[in-house]
Amino acid sequence: MTQLPTRVGVVGCGLMGSGIAEVAARAGRDVAVVESDAVAAERGLARIERSLATAVARGKVSEDDRAAALDRIDVSHDLDALADRELVIEAVFEDETAKVAVFERVDKVVEADDAVLASNTSSIPIMKLAMATRRPESVVGLHFFNPVPVLNLVELVPSLLTADETIERSERFAVEALGKRVIRSQDRAGFVVNALLIPYLLSSIRMLESGFATAEDIDAGMVEGCAHPMGPLHLTDLIGLDTTMAVAESLYEEFKEPLYAPPPLLSRMVDAGLLGRKTGRGFYDYQR
Ligand code: 3HC
Repeated sequence: MTQLPTRVGVVGCGLMGSGIAEVAARAGRDVAVVESDAVAAERGLARIERSLATAVARGKVSEDDRAAALDRIDVSHDLDALADRELVIEAVFEDETAKVAVFERVDKVVEADDAVLASNTSSIPIMKLAMATRRPESVVGLHFFNPVPVLNLVELVPSLLTADETIERSERFAVEALGKRVIRSQDRAGFVVNALLIPYLLSSIRMLESGFATAEDIDAGMVEGCAHPMGPLHLTDLIGLDTTMAVAESLYEEFKEPLYAPPPLLSRMVDAGLLGRKTGRGFYDYQR
């Protein structure tokens, strides 16, 4: 049995990348995070610091463990920091061209032949990323859920060319190192969870758009009536309207089902920069 990766790389330190870096560091891994520039790197580190402070405040992490986890994380804007990594998880914006470019570059930088190159993509076929490298057998999907330190699930998505050893190392890392529950999906846009979740979120936006019910009542309906932790419009604000739209577009491109087509209200809000919590306004206002 191969050893679990101890040196982990994360590309992108937004909502998902910062969460992945945090849980890997909390699991005792040495984590090199790479962002696009110095400003984004600083912002990403601040995001990790805030989340760790919350974990301490909620009694999930001791002060000593918080400090130790932070010590294990290095955030830079230098891709060469990934050269000695045994596992690299890409978590940049949900855009196929951007992700393909990252895989091309990571493939050139990471030295170990048996390193695992994983993507946290929500919906882009893993095969498209694998074919951007010279080692498609080492490429796999490892899809986390937001907020990563809180939600237990990871979707494991091998492509047709992923080697058994890559699958085994990735699964053992998620389960044994991070303590996550893994489900497997075939390499289809949206995998299991987003193929089910996104049409539901889009339906709630169509319902709001048509004047069927207010945002508050739609959300209260699912929270109070179905015991969901948050309603669909609040959840879209948490995920980010841009990410929701990007995932919907990938699903629509793959399956051509009208239920995956982004409704006009979502497109207009994305055009307007009303992206949800991260920009202070989406279906709700977070600035007050
Ligand atoms: N580290 C560790 N634990 C933390 C934490 C942190 N940084 N922040 C919060 N927690 C813990 C809290 O201690 C609490 O634990 P407890 O239940 O044992 O006491 C738990 O997380 C919930 O925290 P809060 O009480 O602060 O918050 P809420 O109860 O308001 O829950 C929420 C917030 C976790 C966001 C919850 O509303 C929720 O789970 N919503 C649904 C989120 C969801 O569906 N995410 C999936 C999105 S889809 C996705 O990501 C895929 C992508 O591809 C689109």
